[in-house]
Amino acid sequence: MKIGILTSGGDCPGLNAVIRGAVLKGVISHDAEFVGFRWGWRGVVEGDFMPIERHDVRGLSKQGGTILGSSRTNPFEGEGSGPENIQRMLDENGINAIIAIGGEGTLTAARRLTDAGLKIVGVPKTIDNDLAATDYSFGFDTAVEIATEAIDRLRTTAESHGRCMVVEVMGRHVGWIALHSGMAGGAHAILIPEHPTNIDQICEWVESVRDRGRAPLVVVAEGFHLDDMDEAHSHKGLDAFNRPRLGGIAERLAPMIEERTGIESRDTVLGHIQRGGAPSAYDRVLATRLGMASVDAVYDSAWGSMVTLRGTDIETVSIAEAVGSLNRVPESRYDEAKILFG
Ligand code: F6P
Repeated sequence: MKIGILTSGGDCPGLNAVIRGAVLKGVISHDAEFVGFRWGWRGVVEGDFMPIERHDVRGLSKQGGTILGSSRTNPFEGEGSGPENIQRMLDENGINAIIAIGGEGTLTAARRLTDAGLKIVGVPKTIDNDLAATDYSFGFDTAVEIATEAIDRLRTTAESHGRCMVVEVMGRHVGWIALHSGMAGGAHAILIPEHPTNIDQICEWVESVRDRGRAPLVVVAEGFHLDDMDEAHSHKGLDAFNRPRLGGIAERLAPMIEERTGIESRDTVLGHIQRGGAPSAYDRVLATRLGMASVDAVYDSAWGSMVTLRGTDIETVSIAEAVGSLNRVPESRYDEAKILFG
């Protein structure tokens, strides 16, 4: 069997560990052959791929990024796209199945292609931990570690100056990175998209920290918006593709806090630092296990399925279960964290 692997969407620490896990499992247990499509679905549409041999994955589990490259190309758009063209390219090159590693967009495309008869298995990838049907996704733990370290560092400089620090972390639709790094770093307020809050409440938390002689630390997810701000105004306008520009919320909150409380405030945006570098040990193990399981799913002909983490077990679910709904921070988890605010 010849299996093609692709990594698509925003990158995430652990992608290379999935590739290594899949290749080692496939070669050792099934005598499989592998190719890697370059730049996500773009490589599939353009028939651009390279062989991946066992020696190519040596030492790969600790390497950040993806050796295959990634993009947000849609396999239903442009020349060479669509199920018929893709199937023809696979047949011409003797590729029997695809393992698609990606998030919501990648898996939605994989599902549509599978519905049209292509043989695809999905591996969930989201640094934000926003995909339903998996308890955790690799990359998330690494991002939380990086954000927590940043919060710890910001705390000492904040305390030295008696300032309020507002730290913006990733989280387009959900606040998992903010919640976990904020709890781990002892934040005085955690602001997430699932729970819009008003500026008066935020200032109340900040002032109560100042009144105890401490420097307030606020962690905010990039997708958060104040509850008295409509969606359009919570972002910095639209980008070149007409999408709401994300981020910039910390930059807006810090002066609002300073103006209302009189506490000197600074903002820090962690940005893509959270996606770069080596994966944590937890993410390496999770990604390796998911990669190995994806090959088993291929040999089980489980087309249209996705490998997933349930508790401590790796299972398979249908991709349909994973797409179309978000893994949001539940009310109970936010209420639990809120006890520590202020
Ligand atoms: O979806 C993952 C994510 O890292 C979001 O947290 C963030 O908003 C977005 O991707 C950034 O995308 P890009 O790398 O295309 O700027």
